[in-house]
Amino acid sequence: MTEMNRIFVFDTTLRDGEQSPGVNLNVEGKIEIATQLAKLRVDVIEAGFPVASPGDFAAVKAVASQVEGPVIAALARATEKDIDRAWEALKYARKPRIHTFIATSPVHMRCKLRKSPDEVLSMGVEAVRYARSLANDVEFSAEDAARSDRGFLCEVFAAAIEAGATVINIPDTVGYSTPREFADLVSYVRAHTAGIHKAIISVHCHDDLGLAVANSLAAVTAGATQVECTINGLGERAGNAALEEIVMALKTRQDYFGVSLDVDTKHIYRTSRLVSTLTGVFVQPNKAVVGDNAFAHESGIHQDGILKERTTYEIMAPESIGLPESRLVLGKHSGRHAFNERLKALGYSLSQEEMERAFNRFTDLADKKKQVSDKDIEAIIEDELVATPAFFELQYVHVISGNHAVPTATVRVKNGDTIVEEAACGDGPVDAVYKAIDAATGIQTHLVSYSLNAVTGGKDALGEATVRVKDNGNMCVGRGTSTDVIEASAKAYVQAVNKVVHSRRVFSMGLQNNTTARADEPIEKAEGK
Ligand code: KIV
Ligand code: ZN
Repeated sequence: MTEMNRIFVFDTTLRDGEQSPGVNLNVEGKIEIATQLAKLRVDVIEAGFPVASPGDFAAVKAVASQVEGPVIAALARATEKDIDRAWEALKYARKPRIHTFIATSPVHMRCKLRKSPDEVLSMGVEAVRYARSLANDVEFSAEDAARSDRGFLCEVFAAAIEAGATVINIPDTVGYSTPREFADLVSYVRAHTAGIHKAIISVHCHDDLGLAVANSLAAVTAGATQVECTINGLGERAGNAALEEIVMALKTRQDYFGVSLDVDTKHIYRTSRLVSTLTGVFVQPNKAVVGDNAFAHESGIHQDGILKERTTYEIMAPESIGLPESRLVLGKHSGRHAFNERLKALGYSLSQEEMERAFNRFTDLADKKKQVSDKDIEAIIEDELVATPAFFELQYVHVISGNHAVPTATVRVKNGDTIVEEAACGDGPVDAVYKAIDAATGIQTHLVSYSLNAVTGGKDALGEATVRVKDNGNMCVGRGTSTDVIEASAKAYVQAVNKVVHSRRVFSMGLQNNTTARADEPIEKAEGK
């Protein structure tokens, strides 16, 4: 395999993915995801859009200084102010990349930017030149490239390369293109852009028509060597191209694509779970590669085939994405050793203290459930170990409810050395618990969504509650698991409240919201002109 055939995987979960409605990751969550992405060995992590808010700035800076391995990129519109802010956050990275962009489609130039094509071209060039005066690695994106005039697009790319762009990116910003058409666009850019051999050709596809992965793969067949994508396909509107699907397609069909990747696919499943847990965005069961049913065989004919020869109905091994086939069932007689071995097989590497906490949770669960499955273990580990600032700790929850009773809850919450007990009535038991927690913590938030899932089948299944609360426009997600669904709901809410307190503190330290801009916002508006 020659270096010509190497595909670079650019993950933008922390930037474009975080632009999903209702998703808001704090700095700790972003570091956790970036660390996991480094284990997955993606080539580039786009850590955020530093000018968007001081919180985004802090996250990019933290990822740049703490996460090693991949290139760390930050987004900037084509202005000196954005580029300065991106560089300020990025300069701590071992391998920093400034990613600057400007829209090139007629509708974006005319209606959003209110600039002529000539003005757009010179802004793009100036931005790249300025970014190159700060960083050696500069990516230039022509936003809405798929709906741009091809001749103009190539002119802009050629000028950007001349000004020093090391990567030129062709986004299908609105998910409008189709595979053959998009491959054709990539071929056109390769054939008609002066100096194109000096830059990496990247693609960035959105999923509005469900074609983001297909378009990205088609682009690879046409010579693109960087694909931009997100874990679980998270992203603006219908999302971005899903990393796990692109990677597994390129690996599984290497015979067809003939390309190589550096990604360690064994970390795909864990990364998907982590992103889902921290964002509160569920993965649909039939989702390719990482959905719960992706490797499940229900029909008798299929099961028979699988038992005779796995490849009859399995084109990828579950182990290849880090889903070990569990032959060991854990229960209350399983000791520390068996539990630790299981954790290792599931891909966790925990500190001694974390292992101890996890083992205590496991024995607790094994007392209530006969058999503890891998899914149960994952749920309790994620519950225990996902970094959440713990200002409040739920010590006790008691509920009276029934079809003829007024739902009433009593909770005891610890905050440092202070213990507060409160009771409240509600429309239902969960509502009563949440009102009691509000009273005990003194934190009022707006509950945006609440959901409850069973982690496994069976009456003794662990319940997993996920809540989203909004505080001053800031969305915080909490998750809790227990065999008691009321306890799971209470834990999830307390975790969300802890995140609210944390983000209020960050805000009051001056790290939040004095400027906010989204990547697709007109420059004039974001700059208050
Ligand atoms: O979708 C898009 O065009 C983008 C650019 C900023 C690359 O996200
Ligand atoms: Zn995008």
